[in-house]
Amino acid sequence: MVGLGTWLIPNDDAKRVCTDALNLGYRHIDTAQIYQNEEGVGNALVSSSIAREDIFITTKMWPGMYGDETFQTFSGAIEACEQSLKLLQLNEIDLYLIHNPFATNSRVELWEAMVELKKQGKVKHIGVSNYNVKHIKEIEDAQIEMPVANQIEIHPYHMIPDALEVYMNNHNILPIAYSTLAPLPNWREGSRWNSKPEAMKNDPSIPFLEVAEKYNVTVAQLLLKWSIQLGYPVLPKSVNYERLKENLDLNFTITGEDMSHLSVSNKAQSLAWQEKFDPLDVD
Ligand SMILES: NC(=O)c1ccc[n+]([C@@H]2O[C@H](COP(=O)([O-])OP(=O)(O)OC[C@H]3O[C@@H](n4cnc5c(N)ncnc54)[C@H](OP(=O)(O)O)[C@@H]3O)[C@@H](O)[C@H]2O)c1
Repeated sequence: MVGLGTWLIPNDDAKRVCTDALNLGYRHIDTAQIYQNEEGVGNALVSSSIAREDIFITTKMWPGMYGDETFQTFSGAIEACEQSLKLLQLNEIDLYLIHNPFATNSRVELWEAMVELKKQGKVKHIGVSNYNVKHIKEIEDAQIEMPVANQIEIHPYHMIPDALEVYMNNHNILPIAYSTLAPLPNWREGSRWNSKPEAMKNDPSIPFLEVAEKYNVTVAQLLLKWSIQLGYPVLPKSVNYERLKENLDLNFTITGEDMSHLSVSNKAQSLAWQEKFDPLDVD
């Protein structure tokens, strides 16, 4: 339920951070072609004494940027996976995802490549990321094998749209949460990928700190546990050893009443993908 996120971890740091995480007990690592750190993740895997079958590796194929003219093709997707396998120094990826629905005119073709990769034994499970109902329905309508997971931004300022949650539930597609820590004031501090509006940094409408203090935990632990209690695995990223440890230490239970206090806001605003741009809204 708690995997290590690696977006914004430079390739040179990835071996150290992943090694620390594995030694602390993390068994799921989330990376992506676009993060450019698969090699560092792979170096940690190779030097670890933990059995390969006890570790779960997720990586993602980048389909192209929204608004671009050219997108990834069937053969390009196969090659992207082969390159990820090489960098990760693996024979098989546990979960391979299409990173987003941006390839507006080749989404089904790319999904066919995912199915082919599974058939070839290069990946164990296939899924999508940032897909809304419309995008997954294209796969259903083409009567192809369905994704097993959809990795999406989930935190109190960006809940799963109800229709998507129902649809995924009905089709046994697991929501995996990312950017769960986005409400933290120091989230992505110092990075250009933090477009959080000032007002949200000290938003009094959700009493994160008060609720966390009740359980004697940090706000980070509260946010992660909130997601897990809703049934969504989390992927907290940290380069800091103490935080890696803290994010795994979630042995408490949030009451139903506090769970609803934290879920009151449904502003559906993507923070991970910059203001006014949410991949779930892509045509
Ligand atoms: N599929 C997608 O499109 C997509 C998009 C975004 C993210 N993801 C995946 O999900 C992962 C998590 O998302 P994210 O990286 O956006 O954000 P996140 O994990 O929710 O938050 C990371 C930020 O929180 C800080 N932090 C971590 N633990 C903390 C703690 N205990 N106390 C205080 N601060 C803490 C980190 O700083 P330090 O590192 O300095 O500790 C960093 O600034 C990514 O790394 C990536 O693997 C996927």
